Amino acid sequence: MADQEKIPVHVSIIMDGNGRWAKMRGEERIFGHKAGADSVRACVEYAIEKGIKYLSLFAFSEENWGRPVAEVEGLMKMMLKAILDETPSFMKNGIRFKAIGNLSRLSEGLRNQIDECMAVTAGNTNLTLIIFLSYSGKWDILQAVNRFMQDNEGKEGMLLDADLLSRYLSTRDIPDPDLLIRTSGEQRISNYMLWQTAYTEYYFTDVLWPDFRKTQFQEALDAFAMRDRRYGKVK
Ligand code: IPE
Ligand code: IPE
Ligand code: MG
Repeated sequence: MADQEKIPVHVSIIMDGNGRWAKMRGEERIFGHKAGADSVRACVEYAIEKGIKYLSLFAFSEENWGRPVAEVEGLMKMMLKAILDETPSFMKNGIRFKAIGNLSRLSEGLRNQIDECMAVTAGNTNLTLIIFLSYSGKWDILQAVNRFMQDNEGKEGMLLDADLLSRYLSTRDIPDPDLLIRTSGEQRISNYMLWQTAYTEYYFTDVLWPDFRKTQFQEALDAFAMRDRRYGKVK
């Protein structure tokens, strides 16, 4: 039996497989994305139930901008509606909402909705829910290095170290993920949090994202509880 007490502080999920889930049912890809939204709700609920403090979800990568316009627009519309619809439930359940990524690429309407949701939920403390939108790990590192250089222009001898770089990343106020789950059988990072996952435990499952609910989440938590994290040391 897994040690039920070993609950990760920060769980991150690469929510993959919506398109394949829809295709298997003879439906359009957007049908899969809509079913995936129900999995998000289930996992948020379960994270609170389990006492997880940070749940982050990779919702849309910088590379995903290269998908057909109709799919991108459908996803953005869904995102806007979901944030609007869910804000009352964030307040009811003590959820602090955050969006991270190259948000300048989003429409003004979506950006405003995100800002508003982040502002009204800022004082909530049960769970921090982070949506990675228009995000890539390389973008994050580059924006960090560029901002560091701007801040230190003309200062001789200022060098970056790991702590300092972490403080310039877009994830600066959230702990690194303890557990990273990827659904749909793909075993790759797809330009997600490259720096922050240096010592994260990976968990891959063949389950497609729309089928990933509480039972599957618990299986991932059980697997995490069995892991021995050594950070390069000897135990
Ligand atoms: C994940 O599902 C959602 C996003 C990347 C937006 P996909 O849309 O990648 O589904 P598959 O991988 O094509 O099945
Ligand atoms: C990764 O999924 C991005 C998200 C889940 C948002 P993709 O479906 O875009 O990744 P690849 O193309 O299979 O690597
Ligand atoms: Mg995919």
